[in-house]
Amino acid sequence: MSLEIRGIEKLNDQERMDELINYIKIQLDDESDSLALMSNISSFIMGTIKNLNWAGFYLYKEDELVLGPFQGQPACTRLSLDKGVCAKAFRDRKVTKVDDVNEFPDHIACDSASESELVIPLFKDGTVYGVLDLDSPIKNRFTNIEVEGFTKIGKLIEDNIYPF
Ligand code: SME
Repeated sequence: MSLEIRGIEKLNDQERMDELINYIKIQLDDESDSLALMSNISSFIMGTIKNLNWAGFYLYKEDELVLGPFQGQPACTRLSLDKGVCAKAFRDRKVTKVDDVNEFPDHIACDSASESELVIPLFKDGTVYGVLDLDSPIKNRFTNIEVEGFTKIGKLIEDNIYPF
C-alpha cells in the first residue's frame, strides 16, 4: 500500500492534523517495528505540517536523550538531561511549547534555523522513555490545534510503539 502524502496543499491546520493522524493510524495498523514506525512518523509529520525544519525522536538511554529517527538537518546525537527544551519536557513529563527559543535560557540549537519548538514526552507504563521533538523556523509557530493534535499523536505512539 502506498503511503505517499498527496492533496494536502489546500488543507487548513485542523485538516492537516486530522490527515496526519490518519496516516499514522494506517501505518500503526500495518507495521509493528518501532524503528520503522518512528521513521515513517517523522516523515509523515514533515510531509503534512507546514513550516517545520526538524521532526523526530530522542530516546532515553544511558542517562541521556539519544537521537532516534528524524527528518531534517543532522542533529545533536546526545542531549544531557539538565539542558534544553527536550530535557525539560522529559524531566517535567509535560508537553512543552517554546514560542521563541532565543528566550529559552539553555535551548540547544542543533539547527540554527529553529525559532520555536514543541516537545511531546512519551510514556510506557507511566515511565517517560523519550520525546517527540518538533522545530520550526518561525516564532510562535505552534497553534493550540497542533498542541492538541501532537498530544494525541503522543498517545497513539505510546499505545503502539515500544522501542525498549
Ligand atoms: N532544541 C532541542 C535539541 C534538539 S534539536 O533541536 C533537534 C533542545 O533544546 O532540547
